[in-house]
Amino acid sequence: MTVPQQQWTAVDDYVDSVLVPADPTLDAALQASADAGLPDISVSPAQGKLLHLLALGQGARRILEIGTLGGYSAIWLARALPSDGRLITLEADPGHADVARANLANAGLAGVSEVRTGPALDTLPLLHAAGDGPFDLIFIDADKPGYPDYLAWSVRLSRPGTMIIADNVVRDGGVIDAASKLPGVQGVRRFMEAMAAEPRVSATVVQTVGRKGYDGFALAVVLAG
Ligand code: SAH
Ligand code: DHB
Ligand code: MG
Repeated sequence: MTVPQQQWTAVDDYVDSVLVPADPTLDAALQASADAGLPDISVSPAQGKLLHLLALGQGARRILEIGTLGGYSAIWLARALPSDGRLITLEADPGHADVARANLANAGLAGVSEVRTGPALDTLPLLHAAGDGPFDLIFIDADKPGYPDYLAWSVRLSRPGTMIIADNVVRDGGVIDAASKLPGVQGVRRFMEAMAAEPRVSATVVQTVGRKGYDGFALAVVLAG
Protein backbone atom coordinates (compact mmCIF):
# COMPACT_ATOMS: atom_id res chain seq x y z
CA MET A 1 0.00 0.00 0.00
CA THR A 2 1.35 3.36 -0.98
CA VAL A 3 -0.18 6.32 0.83
CA PRO A 4 0.42 9.50 -1.15
CA GLN A 5 1.96 12.70 0.11
CA GLN A 6 -1.38 14.38 -0.62
CA GLN A 7 -3.05 12.25 2.05
CA TRP A 8 -0.31 12.88 4.63
CA THR A 9 -0.78 16.60 4.03
CA ALA A 10 -4.57 16.32 4.27
CA VAL A 11 -4.28 14.52 7.62
CA ASP A 12 -1.80 17.14 8.86
CA ASP A 13 -4.33 19.80 7.78
CA TYR A 14 -7.01 17.96 9.78
CA VAL A 15 -4.81 17.58 12.87
CA ASP A 16 -3.85 21.25 12.67
CA SER A 17 -7.50 22.29 12.29
CA VAL A 18 -8.49 20.37 15.43
CA LEU A 19 -5.42 20.69 17.68
CA VAL A 20 -2.96 23.27 16.34
CA PRO A 21 -4.89 26.51 15.85
CA ALA A 22 -3.64 29.09 13.37
CA ASP A 23 -1.23 31.42 15.12
CA PRO A 24 -0.53 34.86 13.61
CA THR A 25 2.90 35.07 15.27
CA LEU A 26 4.06 31.71 13.94
CA ASP A 27 2.57 32.48 10.51
CA ALA A 28 4.42 35.81 10.49
CA ALA A 29 7.69 34.06 11.38
CA LEU A 30 7.30 31.69 8.42
CA GLN A 31 6.34 34.58 6.11
CA ALA A 32 9.33 36.68 7.21
CA SER A 33 11.59 33.65 6.70
CA ALA A 34 10.22 33.09 3.18
CA ASP A 35 10.51 36.81 2.38
CA ALA A 36 14.17 36.70 3.43
CA GLY A 37 14.78 33.75 1.08
CA LEU A 38 15.28 31.12 3.76
CA PRO A 39 14.53 27.51 2.70
CA ASP A 40 11.15 26.05 3.68
CA ILE A 41 12.61 23.42 6.01
CA SER A 42 11.25 24.37 9.42
CA VAL A 43 9.47 21.65 11.35
CA SER A 44 5.73 21.42 10.59
CA PRO A 45 3.15 23.00 12.92
CA ALA A 46 2.23 19.61 14.43
CA GLN A 47 5.92 18.82 14.94
CA GLY A 48 6.53 22.25 16.45
CA LYS A 49 3.74 21.57 18.90
CA LEU A 50 5.28 18.17 19.68
CA LEU A 51 8.55 19.92 20.60
CA HIS A 52 6.57 22.40 22.71
CA LEU A 53 4.73 19.63 24.54
CA LEU A 54 7.92 17.66 25.18
CA ALA A 55 9.50 20.80 26.67
CA LEU A 56 6.41 21.41 28.81
CA GLY A 57 6.39 17.80 29.97
CA GLN A 58 10.07 18.07 30.88
CA GLY A 59 9.31 21.19 32.88
CA ALA A 60 12.19 22.63 30.85
CA ARG A 61 13.80 25.81 32.16
CA ARG A 62 16.87 25.68 29.94
CA ILE A 63 16.62 24.63 26.30
CA LEU A 64 19.37 24.34 23.68
CA GLU A 65 18.70 24.22 19.93
CA ILE A 66 21.36 23.46 17.33
CA GLY A 67 20.20 24.85 13.94
CA THR A 68 17.91 27.89 14.22
CA LEU A 69 16.97 28.83 10.62
CA GLY A 70 14.28 31.55 11.02
CA GLY A 71 13.41 30.61 14.59
CA TYR A 72 10.15 28.74 13.93
CA SER A 73 10.96 25.72 16.14
CA ALA A 74 12.69 28.09 18.58
CA ILE A 75 9.40 29.97 19.09
CA TRP A 76 7.54 26.72 19.79
CA LEU A 77 10.24 25.65 22.27
CA ALA A 78 10.66 29.03 23.98
CA ARG A 79 6.90 29.27 24.51
CA ALA A 80 7.19 26.30 26.86
CA LEU A 81 9.60 28.17 29.15
CA PRO A 82 8.71 29.89 32.41
CA SER A 83 9.33 33.66 32.44
CA ASP A 84 12.80 33.15 33.95
CA GLY A 85 13.70 30.31 31.55
CA ARG A 86 16.22 30.47 28.72
CA LEU A 87 16.52 29.14 25.17
CA ILE A 88 19.90 29.32 23.47
CA THR A 89 19.82 28.51 19.76
CA LEU A 90 22.92 28.09 17.57
CA GLU A 91 23.01 29.17 13.92
CA ALA A 92 25.96 29.23 11.51
CA ASP A 93 24.44 31.62 8.96
CA PRO A 94 24.39 35.26 10.16
CA GLY A 95 21.49 36.08 7.83
CA HIS A 96 19.38 33.24 9.24
CA ALA A 97 20.30 34.36 12.77
CA ASP A 98 19.13 37.94 12.05
CA VAL A 99 15.76 36.69 10.75
CA ALA A 100 15.39 34.45 13.80
CA ARG A 101 16.20 37.25 16.26
CA ALA A 102 13.54 39.45 14.66
CA ASN A 103 10.99 36.61 14.70
CA LEU A 104 11.69 35.77 18.35
CA ALA A 105 11.39 39.47 19.27
CA ASN A 106 8.11 39.73 17.35
CA ALA A 107 6.88 36.71 19.33
CA GLY A 108 7.64 38.50 22.59
CA LEU A 109 10.41 36.02 23.35
CA ALA A 110 13.51 38.24 23.12
CA GLY A 111 13.82 38.20 26.92
CA VAL A 112 14.05 34.41 27.19
CA SER A 113 15.96 33.60 24.01
CA GLU A 114 19.38 34.12 22.53
CA VAL A 115 20.57 33.31 19.00
CA ARG A 116 24.33 32.63 18.91
CA THR A 117 25.91 32.98 15.49
CA GLY A 118 28.68 30.69 14.31
CA PRO A 119 29.28 27.05 13.39
CA ALA A 120 27.92 24.97 16.26
CA LEU A 121 31.25 23.18 16.65
CA ASP A 122 32.72 26.59 17.57
CA THR A 123 29.89 27.78 19.83
CA LEU A 124 29.23 24.50 21.69
CA PRO A 125 32.68 24.41 23.37
CA LEU A 126 32.19 28.07 24.38
CA LEU A 127 28.81 27.25 25.92
CA HIS A 128 30.38 24.40 27.83
CA ALA A 129 33.34 26.50 29.02
CA ALA A 130 30.99 29.26 30.18
CA GLY A 131 28.98 26.79 32.29
CA ASP A 132 25.79 27.54 30.34
CA GLY A 133 24.48 24.01 30.88
CA PRO A 134 23.05 21.72 31.88
CA PHE A 135 20.06 21.93 29.57
CA ASP A 136 16.75 20.17 30.23
CA LEU A 137 15.97 19.65 26.54
CA ILE A 138 18.21 19.81 23.47
CA PHE A 139 16.93 19.88 19.86
CA ILE A 140 19.48 18.94 17.18
CA ASP A 141 18.47 20.18 13.70
CA ALA A 142 21.59 21.59 11.96
CA ASP A 143 23.83 20.00 9.29
CA LYS A 144 23.40 16.22 9.36
CA PRO A 145 27.13 15.29 9.06
CA GLY A 146 27.60 17.21 12.32
CA TYR A 147 25.05 15.12 14.25
CA PRO A 148 27.54 12.67 15.85
CA ASP A 149 29.56 15.57 17.28
CA TYR A 150 26.38 17.39 18.33
CA LEU A 151 25.33 14.29 20.26
CA ALA A 152 28.66 14.21 22.12
CA TRP A 153 28.38 17.91 23.03
CA SER A 154 24.72 17.48 23.97
CA VAL A 155 25.60 14.73 26.45
CA ARG A 156 28.28 16.97 27.98
CA LEU A 157 25.72 19.75 28.32
CA SER A 158 23.10 17.46 29.92
CA ARG A 159 22.05 16.17 33.34
CA PRO A 160 20.31 12.88 34.09
CA GLY A 161 16.81 13.23 32.64
CA THR A 162 17.73 15.64 29.84
CA MET A 163 15.82 14.87 26.65
CA ILE A 164 17.74 15.06 23.38
CA ILE A 165 15.67 15.22 20.19
CA ALA A 166 17.07 15.12 16.64
CA ASP A 167 15.19 15.95 13.43
CA ASN A 168 15.47 14.32 10.02
CA VAL A 169 16.83 10.93 11.00
CA VAL A 170 14.83 8.93 8.41
CA ARG A 171 14.92 11.09 5.25
CA ASP A 172 12.52 9.12 3.01
CA GLY A 173 13.98 5.89 4.37
CA GLY A 174 17.47 6.83 3.18
CA VAL A 175 18.80 5.98 6.63
CA ILE A 176 18.75 2.23 5.86
CA ASP A 177 21.01 2.64 2.81
CA ALA A 178 24.45 1.83 4.17
CA ALA A 179 25.95 2.46 0.72
CA SER A 180 24.39 5.91 0.33
CA LYS A 181 26.68 8.58 -1.09
CA LEU A 182 24.63 11.32 0.58
CA PRO A 183 26.60 13.01 3.38
CA GLY A 184 23.32 13.63 5.22
CA VAL A 185 22.44 9.93 5.24
CA GLN A 186 25.93 8.93 6.34
CA GLY A 187 25.82 11.58 9.07
CA VAL A 188 22.50 10.32 10.39
CA ARG A 189 23.73 6.70 10.28
CA ARG A 190 26.80 7.63 12.31
CA PHE A 191 24.51 9.52 14.70
CA MET A 192 22.37 6.40 15.15
CA GLU A 193 25.47 4.33 15.89
CA ALA A 194 26.76 7.00 18.28
CA MET A 195 23.46 6.93 20.22
CA ALA A 196 23.68 3.13 20.43
CA ALA A 197 27.29 3.30 21.64
CA GLU A 198 26.74 6.09 24.18
CA PRO A 199 26.13 4.45 27.58
CA ARG A 200 24.75 7.70 28.99
CA VAL A 201 21.67 7.76 26.71
CA SER A 202 18.78 5.49 25.88
CA ALA A 203 17.27 6.29 22.48
CA THR A 204 14.64 5.42 19.92
CA VAL A 205 13.34 6.75 16.60
CA VAL A 206 9.77 7.70 15.69
CA GLN A 207 9.11 7.67 11.94
CA THR A 208 6.90 10.56 10.84
CA VAL A 209 4.78 11.45 7.80
CA GLY A 210 2.97 14.70 7.12
CA ARG A 211 3.25 17.89 5.13
CA LYS A 212 7.06 17.68 5.33
CA GLY A 213 7.09 14.20 3.77
CA TYR A 214 8.48 11.01 5.29
CA ASP A 215 11.09 11.52 7.97
CA GLY A 216 11.61 10.93 11.69
CA PHE A 217 12.67 12.18 15.08
CA ALA A 218 15.25 10.53 17.31
CA LEU A 219 14.41 10.78 21.02
CA ALA A 220 17.03 10.12 23.66
CA VAL A 221 17.03 10.52 27.44
CA VAL A 222 20.23 11.00 29.41
CA LEU A 223 20.52 8.33 32.12
CA ALA A 224 21.66 8.66 35.71
CA GLY A 225 25.20 7.66 36.66
N1 SAH B 1 15.17 24.18 13.60
C1 SAH B 1 14.68 24.99 12.48
C2 SAH B 1 15.20 24.46 11.16
C3 SAH B 1 16.71 24.38 11.07
S1 SAH B 1 17.27 24.14 9.41
C4 SAH B 1 13.15 24.94 12.48
O1 SAH B 1 12.59 23.82 12.52
O2 SAH B 1 12.50 25.99 12.44
C5 SAH B 1 18.99 23.90 9.69
C6 SAH B 1 19.75 25.17 10.10
O3 SAH B 1 21.05 24.76 10.54
C7 SAH B 1 20.00 26.16 8.94
O4 SAH B 1 19.57 27.45 9.29
C8 SAH B 1 21.51 26.13 8.74
O5 SAH B 1 22.07 27.40 8.36
C9 SAH B 1 21.98 25.72 10.12
N2 SAH B 1 23.32 25.13 10.14
C10 SAH B 1 23.93 24.39 9.16
N3 SAH B 1 25.15 24.03 9.55
C11 SAH B 1 25.34 24.54 10.78
C12 SAH B 1 26.42 24.52 11.72
N4 SAH B 1 27.56 23.88 11.44
N5 SAH B 1 26.26 25.15 12.89
C13 SAH B 1 25.09 25.79 13.20
N6 SAH B 1 24.05 25.85 12.35
C14 SAH B 1 24.17 25.25 11.16
C1 DHB C 1 16.92 19.92 5.41
C2 DHB C 1 17.27 20.22 6.72
C3 DHB C 1 16.33 20.08 7.72
O1 DHB C 1 16.64 20.33 9.02
C4 DHB C 1 15.04 19.66 7.43
O2 DHB C 1 14.15 19.55 8.44
C5 DHB C 1 14.68 19.40 6.12
C6 DHB C 1 15.63 19.52 5.11
C7 DHB C 1 17.94 20.07 4.34
O3 DHB C 1 19.05 20.49 4.66
O4 DHB C 1 17.60 19.78 3.21
MG1 MG D 1 15.14 19.61 10.31
